[in-house]
Amino acid sequence: MLVPRPPCRHGSLVDAQTRASEPAGSPSRPLRDGLGFFGRFLRNPTSVGAVLPSSRYLSRALVGRLDLGPGELIVEFGPGTGPATEIVRNLLPTGARYLGIELDPRFHGMLTQRFPTLAFHHGSAGDLQRILADLGLPKPARIVSGLPFASLPPKVQDSVVEGIVWALHGSDGDFRTFQYVHAYGLRAARRFRGLMEERFTGFERIGPIVRNVPPAFVLRYWGAK
Ligand SMILES: C[S@@+](CC[C@H](N)C(=O)[O-])C[C@H]1O[C@@H](n2cnc3c(N)ncnc32)[C@H](O)[C@@H]1O
Repeated sequence: MLVPRPPCRHGSLVDAQTRASEPAGSPSRPLRDGLGFFGRFLRNPTSVGAVLPSSRYLSRALVGRLDLGPGELIVEFGPGTGPATEIVRNLLPTGARYLGIELDPRFHGMLTQRFPTLAFHHGSAGDLQRILADLGLPKPARIVSGLPFASLPPKVQDSVVEGIVWALHGSDGDFRTFQYVHAYGLRAARRFRGLMEERFTGFERIGPIVRNVPPAFVLRYWGAK
């Protein structure tokens, strides 16, 4: 469900004043997030897919430059506790929109509280097309993903990839995700990259980003076929 605040109904319009009014992070937040995240991992290891939230170094590399114009939408899959969301929020140009899609109800609740100017949908990234239609949102110009593709079942991988291709086909937008170095060779991780290679003409691997536990590569795809 989308946050029931007017600015969030169709994504969000964030200006400098709104950003400044949001609470600054407290020093204990990383520890709280880490413990909370680990708890969610123990409950749902396959779908959470990591023991700790991403570092700000990995999150910055994941988000990259935010070349968005007024009215353009960026979608984030699997924001978790929001390390990449925070980077996006701080870079989001005036008039550009954001939608986060998060499967875990606890993370979804946390995100809506932590980022009151952004919009979050509680559901699966595999339903991207339906979610955007229900919310009356346009196709996104950019998609960033924290989904743990190395542990997601093939059916979920397939539906997510279909949604990404549908969203980015015919545009110059890109899709960015990360994969942990230690899991890069796993069958599910290779399967995901194989699917993406078939459907995209452009691919770039950035990193590894070593200032993250565990180190990870950022993968960027563009030119959806
Ligand atoms: C590896 S964690 C990454 C969290 C956060 N982006 C970060 O970098 O710290 C994966 C996240 O994807 C979410 N997730 C898993 N499957 C999902 C799906 N099908 N749709 C949306 N979110 C999903 C999990 O609940 C979790 O928040």
